[in-house]
Amino acid sequence: MQRLKNKVAVITGGGGGIGATTAKLFVQEGAKVLIVGRSEDKLRKAMQEINHENISYTVADVSSVEDTQRYLREAVQRYGGIDVLVSNAGVEGPFKPILEHSVEDFDQVLATNVRGVWLSIKYVIPEMQKRGGGSIVTTSSIMGISAFPGHSAYTASKHAVVGLSRALAHDGAPFNIRVNTVCPGVIDNDMMAAAHRRIAPGAEEQLKNTLASRVPAKRYGTNEEIARLYLFLASDDSSYCTGGVYTADGGVTAGIM
Ligand SMILES: NC(=O)c1ccc[n+]([C@@H]2O[C@H](COP(=O)([O-])OP(=O)(O)OC[C@H]3O[C@@H](n4cnc5c(N)ncnc54)[C@H](OP(=O)(O)O)[C@@H]3O)[C@@H](O)[C@H]2O)c1
Repeated sequence: MQRLKNKVAVITGGGGGIGATTAKLFVQEGAKVLIVGRSEDKLRKAMQEINHENISYTVADVSSVEDTQRYLREAVQRYGGIDVLVSNAGVEGPFKPILEHSVEDFDQVLATNVRGVWLSIKYVIPEMQKRGGGSIVTTSSIMGISAFPGHSAYTASKHAVVGLSRALAHDGAPFNIRVNTVCPGVIDNDMMAAAHRRIAPGAEEQLKNTLASRVPAKRYGTNEEIARLYLFLASDDSSYCTGGVYTADGGVTAGIM
């Protein structure tokens, strides 16, 4: 069964690990998908891997009002409307205690991770109203409900994504628009590998093993395991779910012992 048959989905951060894997699954499930990101190279690479007529890309910065309006307009022009938004673009920012953290880095993390999500939802709602409803899924993190030292900007931004998603579930409900957020744990992909290099240069594998040993499931998650949760939340299978916060973290946020 194709769970997204006749649906149009926009995925920001669609050139990245979680976004591209989600785009692939959505296309397999019958959706027409527009992926969005700043780097054309990453988007092209994702397109080549997915290799399907029902996917296209556009280059845009999610923190820009003009770019947001344009990428949503392009989705409507190419595919006739928008039913699903996965607002997933995110940056991690520096791994530093606040005294060494620059104000500019803080602003940059918040611009993408919070302003970008807010803008995408603000401007997609009118398009979803025209379709009689829709599903919006945002990407928070386990750092949206807990904290890790040295990540104040990222942690603040991902807590904000939880708050935004809950608040905007109220705004969307009268129009049959659902808003949910996903909190991935440690995922075995490029973003996490880059974080390892910043946190423990030269000892990345050791750090990975240590972190994995602290996960109740004793391993990192995969992009596919996150994508399957997006599919559930994007599809009508989750028709009564809105304002929800869904962890996919191998038990990390279940608490200690
Ligand atoms: N990896 C993990 O373990 C993990 C855990 C929890 C949460 N997350 C969250 O999951 C989401 C996806 O991350 P990922 O793991 O797939 O990492 P990723 O590969 O780095 O993907 C993030 C994507 O966001 C795009 N992006 C960043 N800033 C942007 C901007 N201003 N405008 C448009 N696109 C922008 C990046 O593309 P460009 O650079 O081309 O713009 C990139 O493709 C992020 O929100 C991340 O915070 C990841």
